[in-house]
Amino acid sequence: QEDSTLSITVVGASGDLAKKKIFPALFALYYEDWLPENFVVFGYSRTKMNDEELRNMISRTLTCRIDRRENCEEKMAQFLKRCFYHSGQYNSEEHFAELNCKLKEKEGGRLSNRLFYLSIPPNIFVDVVRCASTKASSTTGWTRVIVEKPFGRDAESSSELTRCLKRYLTEEQIFRIDHYLGKELVENLSVLRFSNLVFEPLWSRNYIRNVQFIFSEDFGTEGRGGYFDNYGIIRDIMQNHLLQILTLFAMETPVSLDAEDIRNEKVKVLRSMRPLQLEDVIVGQYKGQSKGGKTYPGYTDDPTVPNSSITPTFAAAALFINNARWDGVPFLMKAGKALHTKRAEIRVQFRHVPGNLYKRNFGTDLDKATNELVLRVQPDEAIYLKINNKVPGLGMRLDRSDLNLLYKARYTREIPDAYERLLLDAVEGERRLFIRSDELDAAWALFTPLLKELEERKIAPELYPYGSRGPVGAHYLAAKHNVRWGDLM
Ligand code: BG6
Repeated sequence: QEDSTLSITVVGASGDLAKKKIFPALFALYYEDWLPENFVVFGYSRTKMNDEELRNMISRTLTCRIDRRENCEEKMAQFLKRCFYHSGQYNSEEHFAELNCKLKEKEGGRLSNRLFYLSIPPNIFVDVVRCASTKASSTTGWTRVIVEKPFGRDAESSSELTRCLKRYLTEEQIFRIDHYLGKELVENLSVLRFSNLVFEPLWSRNYIRNVQFIFSEDFGTEGRGGYFDNYGIIRDIMQNHLLQILTLFAMETPVSLDAEDIRNEKVKVLRSMRPLQLEDVIVGQYKGQSKGGKTYPGYTDDPTVPNSSITPTFAAAALFINNARWDGVPFLMKAGKALHTKRAEIRVQFRHVPGNLYKRNFGTDLDKATNELVLRVQPDEAIYLKINNKVPGLGMRLDRSDLNLLYKARYTREIPDAYERLLLDAVEGERRLFIRSDELDAAWALFTPLLKELEERKIAPELYPYGSRGPVGAHYLAAKHNVRWGDLM
């Protein structure tokens, strides 16, 4: 609208996330005309910098998908003209009041909407929210604040954080990001399930044997050991990214696509799950490895990690949803750093066909005939379904082949980065992909007892070599529930 302005203030502008993700995502939105006519971007951090220096910094790190396009330079120059900087302390009301003056000047008396993106460590969330909300919130339009995990370390610290934030903001103003929810394939999960007759009726314990959520990275904590050691892989990946995908996968059909309806269903799934116990998980930690003349450091070789650290860099877990749809179906998660590959995927293994006419063609191993639906979230987004097929020829030999929807073969459009989707939704006030506080509480309730027990009993992680497939314990855990990991089959 011509009579309103949007300002997006990136607090922690000189940090890594801002440089690598937030500014490039904002530029991509601008490039594709998603942002309103009147908008400005402000960087705020302690680093002393002027507007020009911020612009230089952004243009240097703008490595997103857009920078290969035509007229990118021209668009970038226009975008950078709308970027400004204010240096200040994170707990200084005075400095946020100065920011407010600058924002007002840019707004020129028009109705103002203000979005703050907190790209800062969680121990200063509350200070920033206090200063920004008391000194720099909009008096004419909306003010929204995006925060990103970690939201505490356990149920208590998370609800304490929520309580403090809510002293200054309403729940409607808080946008808790889980960037996995902004990934294309994760968004597509509901479309796949709810709009395809060939899948929707199968989505239950009657046809699904188990579901697997797999996250692996082929690099270690390189440079992030300080942060990571205080959290570990369960808090870093499972309690949020993988659990979020699980709830979307397993929820009942929401009344509508409205944010509240969807989030109500997600909360119900979380509340139907039994909190994890020690026997439901195995944990691992990567150790150094020499391979092909190269040496890969172990987790505790990281100078920011204590030598005696037992923080898990790998975990596998079995979760169960105690409701009519999913009773008895294992939902397995596996997440690890410094593994042999980088991948995130959802694997759905279906039951065997009863009285399978072709049983003998599979020998004694009926698992080889399992239909498996795979959603590869990254890299190379794809959805494929493993079916049994007759190998052409005069004999009767069967094999498993893929019906394969590979995105890059099917679609020419590039896939937006998750932060583009989420920033746009926050600007538009669409809350569907953001975590509501009761969802967060329920997610922590599931994991907190386990995390406490792991720490109190000082459970030693199983060591696995850098670049390997992870600890064998993951196989035993799966086997206990009669499951084989699809990615290793
Ligand atoms: C972050 C974790 O939330 O997600 C990191 O803190 C992890 O440890 C990252 O590397 C993975 O995100 P993506 O989008 O690169 O898969």
